Amino acid sequence: MLTPKDVFTPGRPPLARAEVYAHRGQPERDFALAIERGLVPIVHGEFGVGKTSLARHALLSAERAGRLVNVESASGKSFVDVIKTILEHLGYEVTRSRTAHTVETSTTTAGGEAGLALVPLLSAKLTSQRARASSKGETLVRELAVGAPTDSKVLELCERARLVLIVDELHAASPELLADLTAFVKAASNKPCKHFRVVLLGTARDATRLVKHDPGVDRIIVEIALTTLSEAESRSLVEEGMRALAVEVPPAVLDRAARVTAGSPALVQWVALEMAELAVKRTPRRVEEDDLQRAVANYVRTKAKRLERAYTAAAESTGARRYRKQILLAMAQLDDELVTMEALVAQVSKQLGEQVTSTSLSAPLRALKSEEHGEIVRDVEGDARGRFTFRDPSMRPFLRMREAGEREGLFSEA
Ligand SMILES: Nc1ncnc2c1ncn2[C@@H]1O[C@H](COP(=O)(O)OP(=O)(O)OP(=O)(O)O)[C@@H](O)[C@H]1O
Ligand SMILES: [Mg+2]
Repeated sequence: MLTPKDVFTPGRPPLARAEVYAHRGQPERDFALAIERGLVPIVHGEFGVGKTSLARHALLSAERAGRLVNVESASGKSFVDVIKTILEHLGYEVTRSRTAHTVETSTTTAGGEAGLALVPLLSAKLTSQRARASSKGETLVRELAVGAPTDSKVLELCERARLVLIVDELHAASPELLADLTAFVKAASNKPCKHFRVVLLGTARDATRLVKHDPGVDRIIVEIALTTLSEAESRSLVEEGMRALAVEVPPAVLDRAARVTAGSPALVQWVALEMAELAVKRTPRRVEEDDLQRAVANYVRTKAKRLERAYTAAAESTGARRYRKQILLAMAQLDDELVTMEALVAQVSKQLGEQVTSTSLSAPLRALKSEEHGEIVRDVEGDARGRFTFRDPSMRPFLRMREAGEREGLFSEA
């Protein structure tokens, strides 16, 4: 018999057969098509929207066949680290060259091959275990030295093993890694690789950063924008999981749960898990009206205490319009995580049902960036358009849930 945590996985991508996964419609189809066509999908969207889950789920068969190389975060990595991960996945023991890496990677020729490196970056030897495990008739490259990110020997190995390489959290990548990755992706497409695939996950700006390095990659990259879950998607996620657990849920609770979680897949998972845990203790197994409220309260108490405290401290204000609160709610509702004053004025005006001016918002906005109010908002560094954003990206989904919860009477007003 399945238990709730076998089905709902708030902390990780749902990959096992029993774990519920909500299909993502068009972005998911675009992703599959890009892979099929040998293009490089770059999935972007705001914090926690389901980028990693979409990609990992779509590539499950590759993963099960041992063909997936997943670089979980680009943070603090160089391209040599990425190649090392690939080679180790293929059963090589990798030694780094001790000389500092001085290879000029920006001098790629039209063919995509980088200029010859003087010093190999890595040398790799097949482990005896891997050699023994090789199937009959398989020709193995036992030893190789890698000179440049675009080294065709590495590409050949990737192609032969039909690998899929995911580089996740690309927004944390260094400019050097982006440059090398661009060169690599281009070399792979020039080769052309029939089976080897590269998948990039990050934010919207990553695509522009990649293209800026080299307009030539533009034609290889397919940008896939992922937005929050629709209410129907959230609803069916909960419904499907509860069905697998043989738990009955009143339709009104399903609707409400979908509204309150405001499109955040992690919140849907969390709330569903909590409700299921309450329900499986009853006979018959059934979710009750109050369970949603308890689930949300538990979420705030255990997971979002810090966010709740930061929000109430920052939003607390007097005055008929409560501008600080309005600004925070507006920032949570806007599509773009990076907010311009113009967009803020429009959204706050909409919320209040009257035209506000940027002059009236600038003092409360400044207050939200101050230490006194916990610096909940910060300026985007070096942004020519003067945009600002939440210091903590998890504040956005939380505030959307809070607002929906207030409307549903599950939260008291801040
Ligand atoms: N399609 C989905 N079906 C079911 N659950 C999902 C789905 N997408 C995401 N989730 C849930 O939401 C959580 C967050 O999703 P995920 O880590 O994929 O988002 P992300 O966009 O990669 O986040 P980050 O911006 O932190 O990298 C997952 O751990 C999973 O529990
Ligand atoms: Mg992710």
